[in-house]
Amino acid sequence: MMTESRNVIHSVDARVTRVNHLEADQHTLVLEAPAIAESATPGSFVHLGVNADPAVMRRPLSILWTDRKDGTVEVLYKVVGKGTEELARVREGETLPTLGPIGRGFQVDSDRDRPLLIGGGVGIPPILFLAREIKDHASPLVVMGSEIPFPFASRPSTIRVPGMPDGVIAGMDLLEDWGVASRLCSTQGYAGCYEGYVDAAARMWLETQASGQREQVIIYTCGPVPMLEAVARLAREFDVPCQVCMEEYMACAVGGCAGCTVPVLGEGGWAMKRVCVDGPVFDAQAVFPAETRPL
Ligand SMILES: Cc1cc2nc3c(=O)[nH]c(=O)nc-3n(C[C@H](O)[C@H](O)[C@H](O)COP(=O)(O)OP(=O)(O)OC[C@H]3O[C@@H](n4cnc5c(N)ncnc54)[C@H](O)[C@@H]3O)c2cc1C
Ligand code: FES
Repeated sequence: MMTESRNVIHSVDARVTRVNHLEADQHTLVLEAPAIAESATPGSFVHLGVNADPAVMRRPLSILWTDRKDGTVEVLYKVVGKGTEELARVREGETLPTLGPIGRGFQVDSDRDRPLLIGGGVGIPPILFLAREIKDHASPLVVMGSEIPFPFASRPSTIRVPGMPDGVIAGMDLLEDWGVASRLCSTQGYAGCYEGYVDAAARMWLETQASGQREQVIIYTCGPVPMLEAVARLAREFDVPCQVCMEEYMACAVGGCAGCTVPVLGEGGWAMKRVCVDGPVFDAQAVFPAETRPL
């Protein structure tokens, strides 16, 4: 219906059709927004009014899932401050001013059929959306890390992941149901999780891949900056391409204020790029190259 709307940012008053309150002040919200659902891709995001007041500054949230049949978009967020606190008070049936989908999402390389998807903390949503989009034509491994309880059910995985130490068996329920390999990581001692960070778990798997197999690997990642830097280093070391999804502070979120710029290394040297519309997904080695970033 709206295929011509790719790259168009829709401004809608979206009705909240479902809210779900999870452990550790994490919440999901389903919004009725057919035009946004139609053209959203993994890595794209919505800029969401946190209440019905259009004067209150919006907050950017990645799209977790879309349901094109129902015309809905779902987000998953953690309360960290005033805006997300306000959002957690929203009830089903209310409407929220919503802009979306915004940004250039992950560019799927369909020639590399062993994608490694790495999500950390509030960076997990776009990784799950991507896993759903590519699961039928690739064999992804999804590695996710959290220092608070995971916002989804997990169970001992029946899918073997080479390189994982004994006892590292926790996988996400939904991914297991889809037949997608996953492993969970945390330093909090959660049962079945790898005791450490996602990049260390990813390294153990990469080390089991022969050079011919590595040619089929591509890394897609989203999470806090130190995690993205570590994953970019790992990708460089193993010589695999890597795309990072950045979460910067944002004001307008539509390319007008330059409030979200980051230095990105291109063929002509360093340039400032807007995370909201030039990203949020960038080539990892352009954002976190071996050479030092300018101040
Ligand atoms: C493209 C994009 C996608 C995002 N997707 C998600 C998501 O799917 N789920 C989710 O929970 N959060 C996501 N975020 C982060 C989310 O937008 C912020 O947590 C939120 O705006 C904080 O608003 P607040 O008013 O509650 O907190 P504030 O009072 O503004 O800040 C509270 C704390 O959060 C930190 N913070 C605020 N904004 C950011 C940011 N952009 N990046 C890093 N730290 C920040 C501040 O340092 C402060 O410590 C995303 C951000 C971007 C830019
Ligand atoms: S937030 Fe205004 S240009 Fe990106």
